[in-house]
Amino acid sequence: MLTFNNDIMGLQPSRSMAFMAKAKQMQATDPSVINLAGGEPDFDTPKKICDELFRQINSGYTHYTVGAGLPELRKRIAEKLADENGCNYSPDGVIVTPGGKFAIYLAVRTLVNPGDEVMYLEPAWVSYPSIIEASAAKPVPVRLSLEQNYKVTLEQLEKFVTDKTKILIINYPNNPTGKTLSKEEADALEQFMLRHPGVALIADEIYERIIFKGYSNISMASYPSIADRVITVNGFSKSVAMTGWRIGYLATTPEIKNAMYKLFQHTITCVSGFVQKAAVVALDCAEEIEAMRQSYEHRRDLFVGGLNAIDGVECNYPEGAFYAWVKFDIPGLDSEGVCDYILKEAKVVGVPGIAYGTDDSCVRFSFASSEEDLKQAVERIGAVMAKVKR
Ligand SMILES: Cc1ncc(COP(=O)(O)O)c(C=O)c1O
Repeated sequence: MLTFNNDIMGLQPSRSMAFMAKAKQMQATDPSVINLAGGEPDFDTPKKICDELFRQINSGYTHYTVGAGLPELRKRIAEKLADENGCNYSPDGVIVTPGGKFAIYLAVRTLVNPGDEVMYLEPAWVSYPSIIEASAAKPVPVRLSLEQNYKVTLEQLEKFVTDKTKILIINYPNNPTGKTLSKEEADALEQFMLRHPGVALIADEIYERIIFKGYSNISMASYPSIADRVITVNGFSKSVAMTGWRIGYLATTPEIKNAMYKLFQHTITCVSGFVQKAAVVALDCAEEIEAMRQSYEHRRDLFVGGLNAIDGVECNYPEGAFYAWVKFDIPGLDSEGVCDYILKEAKVVGVPGIAYGTDDSCVRFSFASSEEDLKQAVERIGAVMAKVKR
């Protein structure tokens, strides 16, 4: 009889993907269902990026490429990280990966040995614990509290570090809370890293181009004191609406990159050359990116403003990304119960907070949806909440 790898068999299915699948299934039979469970832009990829892809394919650029990414793309990525994020990475420290998700896996898998510990901030994107487990390491969630608006402090980080800790993963702007990193929090992270010289920091900045008025992004690799241990992960999925293209990247020191490249060359070989060529064009889409950002900001105001006017519903205005992290006061219901209730009564699909490791009676809704759907969703949730006896 065949047996399977225990680490892989122990992985939980992605709860957010499960809800997305459930929503699609429901929509097939009932088109009035509003799906706010997704995690992707509702825009098409800008035309000039698509044009470049077709141009490359039509000119026969369809073969393997060599190395960790096309030299011109790695150079542009290093320049972007310097110009926009204040990070000093060499192009030789950049790896172009099939999505940011694989970049995180590549980094974790290369840095840990069985039994090592990887800390990550919770609420957390659903894939971190599974990526850590798939690498035979132990996930260590650092629980942040809703009451303190999920503030990261040195004190909280210190509670979870041990002599087995190898990595800390952070994600700002955050999925699911929409928080950005404040200067005070970034300073606390620097202090933590200085106290633990054997720890690497993975900074997942995949939503870094979607930040709203009054806030800005702080890249931890811009702190020179710890930069050589900061692996910055980013990509094109969210910023330029390229989720299906499967392209992202990480940046680190050439030495750490060389270790990761050992695994990369025996698994991925390369990201499609024509996709990489199109990604070079995607790095020159400031106007398109800004137009999308403004649209998300407008929809955030509309959706979150509407929700906050409902009795029993509370939501801080997200500072970045395109998710609203909404707290419901419905007695006796946890986040999964709330989600099922809202789905059944309002026909609006969200993802329960528990999928992100922490309940807090919160549900994550994506506002990368049409204004029409967002208005409808607010109206229906309002009607359902009016019936709830609190
Ligand atoms: C926090 C976070 N990191 C990374 C990713 C991975 O994105 P991709 O693999 O499409 O680049 C996602 C996608 O949902 C995400 O939400």
